[in-house]
Formats: sequence, C-alpha cells, structure tokens
Amino acid sequence: MSDWPRLPLEDTFGDVLRKAMRGVGSDAQMLAAQTGIAAHAIARWCGDDGVATRDEARALARVLRLDPERLADRASDAWYPTIPHAEDVRHHPHDPHPSNGYVFFLEGGKRAALVDPAGVPEHLVRMLHEGAYGLEYILITHKHADHCDATTEVAAAFPDAKIVMHELDAHAIGNLAPSALRVRDGEELPFGDDVRIRMLHTPGHTDGSSSYLFKSTLFTGDTLFAGSVGGAYGDVSTYDDILNSIRAKIFTLPDETILMPGHGPPSTVAQERAHNPFFDDHA
Ligand SMILES: [Fe+2]
Repeated sequence: MSDWPRLPLEDTFGDVLRKAMRGVGSDAQMLAAQTGIAAHAIARWCGDDGVATRDEARALARVLRLDPERLADRASDAWYPTIPHAEDVRHHPHDPHPSNGYVFFLEGGKRAALVDPAGVPEHLVRMLHEGAYGLEYILITHKHADHCDATTEVAAAFPDAKIVMHELDAHAIGNLAPSALRVRDGEELPFGDDVRIRMLHTPGHTDGSSSYLFKSTLFTGDTLFAGSVGGAYGDVSTYDDILNSIRAKIFTLPDETILMPGHGPPSTVAQERAHNPFFDDHA
C-alpha cells in the first residue's frame, strides 16, 4: 500500500492508562494507594502531561490487569508496528474525521467493498468513481458518526451496493436501516467467484461493533487499534466484552492476518498478540 501514511499510534500512554482505569473501575487515588505512585502524577499522565518511567508503568500495569513489560514499552515509546503490506486494499482518510476508510477489491477493482462510509461524501464518491470501482458492498463497522455519517450519499451514488451492518448498531443510518443487510457473527458474504467476506461480531466498543475479514485482512473498526483497544462505550456490552471479543475472535485468526483499524496504523495478529498491553502471552 504505497498510499499508506505514517500514522502515529492511535492511543498514547495516557489513553491506555485511562481506558484500563475506567475498565477496571479504578481512579488515580486508588492506583496511588496500590502502587505508592503519587496520585497527582497518575492524573497528569492520564492527560498526556509527562509519562511514567518503565518501573512506574510496570507497577501500574500489575494492578490494572495490563501486561507490565508491554506497558513499559508504551511508556518509553519503544514499540511501533511493522507495517504489513495488504494486497488489494486501499486506505483513505475520512477528512474531517480522524478515522480510517478503506476500499478492498478483486479483479483490479471491478468488484469492490467500502469499509465505513464517513467524512465528506463528495470525496468518497469521487475516489470511488476515479478508481472505477464496482462497489458491491458498503460495510459498516459500527454506529459512530466518524464511521458512517456519509452512508446516505454513498448509497445514493451506488444504489446497487448492499449496506452491511449489525442490527444492534443499524439505527445510526436512519431510514436506510431497514434496507441494510443484517449479518450475524460468522456469516459470510459472497464476493466474486471464490472469495467470501466474513463478518465477526466483536462487541464492546459498541454493542453492534463488527469486524470484516477479506482474505487475510481484518477490518477491526474501533475494536482493536495497534497497541491498544477501543473505548468500551456499549449500552450493554462492557470492557470485558471488548477484551473477550479480541481474544476469542481476532487473536484466534492466523498470525499473519493483517489488522486494519478504524484509527491509527495497521498491524498484524502476531504483533498485537506479542505487544498489545491489554493482553499477555496467555491471551
Ligand atoms: Fe467509534
């Protein structure tokens, strides 16, 4: 993917800390009592004002159910994924949103699928026309506006494309919701003669969060970021659900599976299993 920009990791050390604290129901005072680190220092780090030492990061990780060495690596900025090369996948920014959009395709673009119609609709439609993509699917990972706020316009420009979305999030696309294809966990969509797009229901960031597998590339939406996980904003699904979704549905895919997240750079299953601080070697 020559058009892949060098994106910073989506989550800072402070973001990881805040997500884990919220996830386990802790705060700076509690963490301070458990680790002996000053509460005001922890609060500062949560706001990206300074960062913990490696030893401090290890101490925090032990009480936050994070992996100590991996969190120390995040604190010292010692890890960035090796960017994998994905065949037949094109990245585009969702300007003005900070999210990632993708098109993947077969036969040089004669058959194509858009992942997350968001941002300035004219930009998306122009990109799809210029690439002469035969758009068959509009796949939506979840209900947040920075992932689906251009659905109406893209669907109008490509009326033959099927909108695909989990039913628990489908209300976000308004009056298009009834026409969306509601897919369930593990269901596969035909794509060309011998390819299937598999949907994995990965709740936790939202209740209907979905990841889509095309060949050996998984589009994870905001479920998994390189070196982090999405925030747990489900109505009923929780922080534990997002971690379990990743363990059970994503980390069980082959090591070389490429992960294309909704924000930040891509990664692979092997790299996340080895470096993501929310998991350990037993994940
Ligand atoms: Fe989101």
